[in-house]
Amino acid sequence: MKVIKTIAEYRKIRCSLDCPIGFVPTMGYLHEGHISLVREARKKNLSLVVSIFVNPTQFGPKEDFNTYPRDLERDLTLLDDEGVNIIFCPSIVEMYPPGFDCWIEVTQLSNRLEGIARPGHFRGVTTIVAKLLNIINPDRAYFGQKDAQQASIIKKMVSDLNLDLKIVVLPTVRGNDGLAISSRNVYLNKEERKAAKILFKALNIAERLHLNGENDARLICNEMTKIIESEPLASIDYISIADSNTLNELDKIIKPALVSLAVFIGKTRLIDNIILN
Ligand code: PAF
Repeated sequence: MKVIKTIAEYRKIRCSLDCPIGFVPTMGYLHEGHISLVREARKKNLSLVVSIFVNPTQFGPKEDFNTYPRDLERDLTLLDDEGVNIIFCPSIVEMYPPGFDCWIEVTQLSNRLEGIARPGHFRGVTTIVAKLLNIINPDRAYFGQKDAQQASIIKKMVSDLNLDLKIVVLPTVRGNDGLAISSRNVYLNKEERKAAKILFKALNIAERLHLNGENDARLICNEMTKIIESEPLASIDYISIADSNTLNELDKIIKPALVSLAVFIGKTRLIDNIILN
């Protein structure tokens, strides 16, 4: 496994990599969610590149960029064990040199859900992902369904900018209690970790109601709200049932719908989602 820190160094070896090249972009502090992407990418591609870069431009001024968990040594060991060929872990100045002034934005999809709660977040994500795709030049790039809106926005960017690669979105990895695995779960204390199960419980209620023939989105949201409000440590940021392509809110569920939610457990903001078909 080679660890590469500069764009010039990566470009020198890019032409010697066997194709197809799979790429898993990450912000490090790897968990089972990342590893599931890495394993699938390993199976389907002859070369595998993983990037580790905590991207400052996708964090708001009051968000956790400085305290975001990092452990490069541990990440490198895990990735070596998974048979990754190249780790790309550039510095901030390598990706954003002085005077950097170019932004990529998928405007409509970015101004909903997470985009309302985290202004500018998706502009940072699409800008860094576009740069990474341009540098790594993979045949396939892998993302998790846990960040459903991010995955939709990246697919739209790739389509609108005619980027020549396939975006692969893989299912959310969950703990035994249903909690979606996320780097931010480390912020939860024991009590909060237990309380966090309420997100998956609420999503399950939505699924069960829909399977029993309920199509009224507002009614389903109300039931989800009741469940979450029964947990004293939880406070709802949003619950949404939206068209899974446009992310427009739905009144009636008549096509694939993204049921998503953001909930504070104590001070930690968690997101999760399911698709109702
Ligand atoms: O999902 C993430 O970890 C990040 O948003 C990504 C895609 C690596 C861009 O920084």
